[in-house]
Amino acid sequence: VKSIAVLTSGGDSQGMNAAVRAVVRSAIYYGLDVYAVQRGYYGLIHDDIRKMDLRSVGDIIQRGGTILQTARCKEMMTLEGQKTAADNLRKRDIDGLVVIGGDGSYQGADKLAQLGIKTMGLPGTIDNDISYTDYTIGFDTAVGIVVDAINKLRDTMSSHERASIVEVMGRHCGDIALHAGLASGAESILIPEVPFNVEDVADRMKENFVNGKRHSIVVVAEGVGSGEEIAKSITSRVNIDARLTVLGHIQRGGTPTHKDRILASQLGDFAVRQLIAGDSGKGCGVINGQLVATDIHKVITTKKEFNMDMYELALRLSQ
Ligand code: F6P
Repeated sequence: VKSIAVLTSGGDSQGMNAAVRAVVRSAIYYGLDVYAVQRGYYGLIHDDIRKMDLRSVGDIIQRGGTILQTARCKEMMTLEGQKTAADNLRKRDIDGLVVIGGDGSYQGADKLAQLGIKTMGLPGTIDNDISYTDYTIGFDTAVGIVVDAINKLRDTMSSHERASIVEVMGRHCGDIALHAGLASGAESILIPEVPFNVEDVADRMKENFVNGKRHSIVVVAEGVGSGEEIAKSITSRVNIDARLTVLGHIQRGGTPTHKDRILASQLGDFAVRQLIAGDSGKGCGVINGQLVATDIHKVITTKKEFNMDMYELALRLSQ
């Protein structure tokens, strides 16, 4: 490839800017022309593309959000949209594209690869729901935000001897809930990967209060349903004052952790090098510390492996 473009797509995540910076600076380092697409696939279809230089990505490594903005784009699901997107790249002689986003974004990259554009996907999502990578860009920061929120909730909950039910994001994946739950010492972690019943959660809470606990933290992944419904169902079974906190989009903002910045920098540079080596249609990731590029079709059709050992550990430690 001689010329590549980069875009961010789907829900934003902390570290996307660091990834954009890495793609732009590595591409220039290796002698490529590099373009940025504004507003994800929407901008690609509507031709919102501009040339980047070293300074266009200055002072962004520490910023949350994405300077390229992002969108969830229905047009990209149609063949017509995909062809227009590919044509807009070709008319500028751009032959490679790095897509930073979640699995919906990877599907677009897969389609463009089939239309002859050399594509690389970078896992940019707080959900950690992408297979063939241990971590996605933004996950570490999001988990840190949840842990920090739970620390604060603990203070006030124990003063009042209350229970706190905390709903976290993650779509169909329980990783944010699991990692944040383990790191914050939650009593129960309700996630889509492990069936649960509310009676057991309530019984556990009652028993723990009887045994001297002064507060209780239940983390609910949004993938198991509404936190409000679950909170109601728990409170109807216990005589404990329980309060619901829905953390929402707070989890997607703020400065990325050093881990997310490093992961984004490594993967951005890796994607550029893979394109230069002639590779295409791959999703980049990190497995046991090694950078890997996996067939994007395989990535989007494989469910992320669930870490049952970690779940059991959290359970053992939360008595
Ligand atoms: O995929 C990231 C994510 O934040 C999910 O955790 C959540 O379900 C969804 O996006 C929220 O989407 P939106 O920002 O469009 O409301």
